[in-house]
Order: sequence, then structure tokens, then C-alpha cells
Amino acid sequence: MQAFIDNIPKAELHVHLEGTLEPELSFALAKKNGIPLPYKTPEALVEAYDFTDLPSFLEIYYAGMNVLVAESDFYDLTMAYLTKASNQNIVYAELFFDPQAHTSRGIDFSIVINGIHKAQVDAEQKLGIKSQLIMCFLRELSAESAMEHLSMAEPYLSYLVGVGLDSNERDNPPIKFKQVFKKARELGLKLTMHCDVNQKNTLTHIGQCLDDIKVDRIDHGVNSLEDASLVAKLRDSKIGLTVCPVSNRFVVQSLTAKEIRTMLDEQIMVTINSDDPAYFRAYLNENFIELQKEGDFDKQDLQTLVENSFRIAWLPETEKQQYLSSIRDYVVTSS
Ligand code: ADE
Ligand code: ZN
Repeated sequence: MQAFIDNIPKAELHVHLEGTLEPELSFALAKKNGIPLPYKTPEALVEAYDFTDLPSFLEIYYAGMNVLVAESDFYDLTMAYLTKASNQNIVYAELFFDPQAHTSRGIDFSIVINGIHKAQVDAEQKLGIKSQLIMCFLRELSAESAMEHLSMAEPYLSYLVGVGLDSNERDNPPIKFKQVFKKARELGLKLTMHCDVNQKNTLTHIGQCLDDIKVDRIDHGVNSLEDASLVAKLRDSKIGLTVCPVSNRFVVQSLTAKEIRTMLDEQIMVTINSDDPAYFRAYLNENFIELQKEGDFDKQDLQTLVENSFRIAWLPETEKQQYLSSIRDYVVTSS
């Protein structure tokens, strides 16, 4: 099973670039940029990763970003993730980034997006891994701030495939950003939003994503199973869920294998992703390997999960079909 998971060509659709910042890179950048870190070693930093819910994770996640200053830092961050992903046989990735977490520290939007974009171009050329970029808005900040950042992004529209919504969900419903997402849609961008596991009013939030915002995808969205009408809508619309098993485990003490099994049975387009792999200490293959054990998934289940990622990817149909056919080739030759 491990070899099957390691080698099957995969896509990742839910990974926050800032959540891929490994402690070693963090130390190197801190030294270069003269930023003091409150830990003596990368190992001590990892030991301080103590999260039990979304707010406790976000506090550590934002503190970690202070070492990202220059364009080359964003390049190095992105290149490190894409190299790791390529080594895990990820052939296509859609990458989230959080510009407001950087502009709020005085870093220019152009520095952030240019550093990321240059690494995406180089990684595709040198490693053959294709990626597209999704700009996320921080939902605890105002809709005005989100709109301002959408305007900042307009000169870089060709660098973006979509917009997302992340960070602290409590009392920050999707509807707060209705106008911003409407504008993003008019600009030709795809739409996704986080509905993190076990959040207050989660079923209302999932409903708003589907009915008011009319998203193309939902990030997490596991609680949708609690409402038969949401299950029917997800199945009929083929709107995908980007589920992150190891990330979920910090909140619900399970990889949600049972829920993922139910989603497969209900014909929901469920996919497996890593979310913030440097913080949760698990990249995509580790998510699949752990999940397979917890849920006793067989190769056919794993193939369906991997294929779903390409089916709901924001790619032209012909490209999806090429990836899907490479998966079928892999399965035939590996069995
Ligand atoms: N930002 C980074 N990871 C996140 C997550 N899992 N939920 C919400 N915001 C995030
Ligand atoms: Zn996420």
C-alpha cells in the first residue's frame, strides 16, 4: 500500500504555502533577515507546535511568517514545497497564499506574488510539476480589506486561478464576503472557501457557500454529512471537498476516515490534502498512508480519491483527461 500511494501520480488542491514553512528554512531565513526567533533550534520550534483547535494553530502559523521578508524568501518557500511535492509524485498542485498576512507586516503584495510565481515557473520547467495559485482572504479581517487586496491582484490576474477564504471562521460567515467573491467571479476567478471541521454554525456556512456564494469547491466541509440536503446538493452539483485528514485529527482526534468512506459511498467528490504540512508534520503521502490504515481503504478507494482531485481540479478538461489516463496506466502496470 505504501509503495502504491508513494508512486501513484497525485494532485494536491488544499495546501497553504505559508503552512509549508519547515523549521530549518525558518531558521535560515531568520538568520539572513536578522529576525530573532524565540527558540534555540528547529527541533525546539517543532516541540512548541501545540494546537488543539483552529485559533491555537493560527496563532503559531502567523507568528511563523515573520521570517518571510524578501521576494527570494517567498521563492525559496514555494520552491521547497514544490520540490517536496514532486518527490512525492504530486504532478499538479493548487497553492493557497495569504497576502494580507504579509501586507499587514509592511511587505509589498508584488514581493509576495512575484516570488511565488517565479518559483512556480522554475519548478514546472525543472521538475515538471505544474501548479496554479489561489489567493485567500483572511475572514476575520474586513470585506473592505479583502476587496482592496483583490484590486492589488488585478495586475497579476494571469498568475491566479482562483480566490479562497481562510483563517478564523468564528463569527465570520461566507456571506460577509459576498461582494468580494462576486467581483472575483466577474474577473474570471474560481471560488472556494474554508468550512473548517466543527466550527460554530458550520452547516449554515456550508449552505451559504453553496447557495449564496455559489462556490466551485469547499475546503474541508466534513460536517456537511450531518445534513441530508447538503449531501444531496454536493452529490448533484459535483462540488468537491478538499479534506485534510491529519489536520482534522488535531481537532477531532480522528483522521475522519469514517466520514471520508461515507462521502465515497454518497458519491461526493471528496479529495485528500495536507493543509499545512510543515506544521502538522505530514505531507500528502503521509496523509494517504495514515488514512489508509485508519479506514482500511483498498487500492480502488485510493485510486478514486486520487482521481477525484484531478476531476475537480481547475484545469481544462483535456489536461484532466491526460492526468486521469496516466493514473489508469500506473494502476495497470503496478498490479
Ligand atoms: N490557514 C491555514 N490553514 C488553515 C486552516 N486549516 N483553516 C483555516 N485557515 C487556515
Ligand atoms: Zn486550509
